[in-house]
Amino acid sequence: MTPLDNTSSQPGIFDRSALVRGLGEAAARLADIVAMQAQDQQRSLYLVGGVLRDLLLGQRSADLDFVIESDASTFARGLQKRYGGQVHAHQPFGTAKWSLSADSADRLGLPLADLPQHIDFARARSETYAEPAALPDTKPGSIVDDMQRRDFSVNALALRLSPNAPYGQLLDACGGLQDLRNQQIRVLHDRSFIDDPTRILRALRFTTRLNFKINAQTAVWLRDALPMLGRVSGARLRKEIDRIMVEKPASEILLRLNDLGALKEIQPGFRPSKRLADDLKRAKEQEPPWQSADIDAPALRWCLLLGAHEDTVARCIAKRLDLNRRQINSVSATCRILAIAEDLADPLRRPSEIAPRLEKLPPTALHAAWLLLHDSSSAQERLRLTMQRWRTIRPCTTGHDLRARGLPPGPHYKRILEQLRSAWIDGDVQSCEAERALLQRLLESGEYAQGDQPSARLL
Ligand code: CTP
Repeated sequence: MTPLDNTSSQPGIFDRSALVRGLGEAAARLADIVAMQAQDQQRSLYLVGGVLRDLLLGQRSADLDFVIESDASTFARGLQKRYGGQVHAHQPFGTAKWSLSADSADRLGLPLADLPQHIDFARARSETYAEPAALPDTKPGSIVDDMQRRDFSVNALALRLSPNAPYGQLLDACGGLQDLRNQQIRVLHDRSFIDDPTRILRALRFTTRLNFKINAQTAVWLRDALPMLGRVSGARLRKEIDRIMVEKPASEILLRLNDLGALKEIQPGFRPSKRLADDLKRAKEQEPPWQSADIDAPALRWCLLLGAHEDTVARCIAKRLDLNRRQINSVSATCRILAIAEDLADPLRRPSEIAPRLEKLPPTALHAAWLLLHDSSSAQERLRLTMQRWRTIRPCTTGHDLRARGLPPGPHYKRILEQLRSAWIDGDVQSCEAERALLQRLLESGEYAQGDQPSARLL
């Protein structure tokens, strides 16, 4: 039995024990403390959004999202004054984030580990959109206005905690409870996807995650708004795709978006591989056999998502989605490694041919390529050798040694040292002594005295 079942027998009443079950004792106590502060100040305060949806479905939630019908940053700063922590306010939207510290947990008398890292407060507001896909203009409004500006009815529920709310008065201004029971995702008006096309991605994310269906009229509006995705900024789209990629059914969501034609509206050529589910699963379960401590997890996911694309296409997608330079480089390098997968696996290719193509690439790309090339143990082995051996090989000989031997300095120094290094990588020399013998042969060949290219047969 979920709290949702209770709401049909006692409409509007939300059982507090459900709050404890959904949030855990500590976060529920924190909600009480926040509610008391609002009561003291005679402010109207509501628990809102996804957390409430999840609680009603009997699912655990880690977030605490409040709407207050007054200035959110003043309210959050009041809590900060009393309990410590940090407040970051974002004035344009009238929102404030209260981050808890160990000291604030002490002052609250609650275990820090059981509390959310931060609590979000927003002033109840109404929104208007000057043009499709633009950020909204906001103005203070009532809690009902605030529900009506939201994406889907199931996210437009509010639990009143103050004033004087015996746990708890559930405000359902948009039919969210009925939609939760019917298991459907429904937008609140015909322009919802046009105003905010990121809701297209969100609709598929929630539908797939919750195993809901999309309401028939909503589906029509969603399809009509697909071209609007082209107008949304890369950063906003990336944020939504980042959120999709940490969902359990990430690949199913992306494949459905692809089937709908949403991804190509974002950038032509953007299409997830059919193997993405396995690749993401493998990324969670396996690690390459080398130390890969400083891997940027979101960048790795982007490499897995875009690695099978052609390099130029992947770069365009990554730039369109405003990935940072390091992430773009990692994505592009992954594509290039995959493009030479056959060479990597080819035993006739000498290590010294392969190493220069891999060793300067970002570790995140090699990590991703190792996961993506799971069906080629010889390619994986070459990646391992790059990371564990080849990258660190340096010949014993230095430029000083060459000068001491009377060789006139010039660009051939670099070529000689590279040739010595290649001999190490190929295993042709395995000691400084053997390297010196090779150097002797190179110099005796006379070719380097003039700074010429050496002949390969010397090796
Ligand atoms: N919201 C919206 N339109 C958007 C993004 C968010 O109306 N484009 C509203 C929804 O009411 C949503 C709330 O803001 O519930 C909080 O946003 P977010 O944290 O993104 O959504 P959650 O529903 O909490 O998602 P999740 O369960 O994945 O945390």
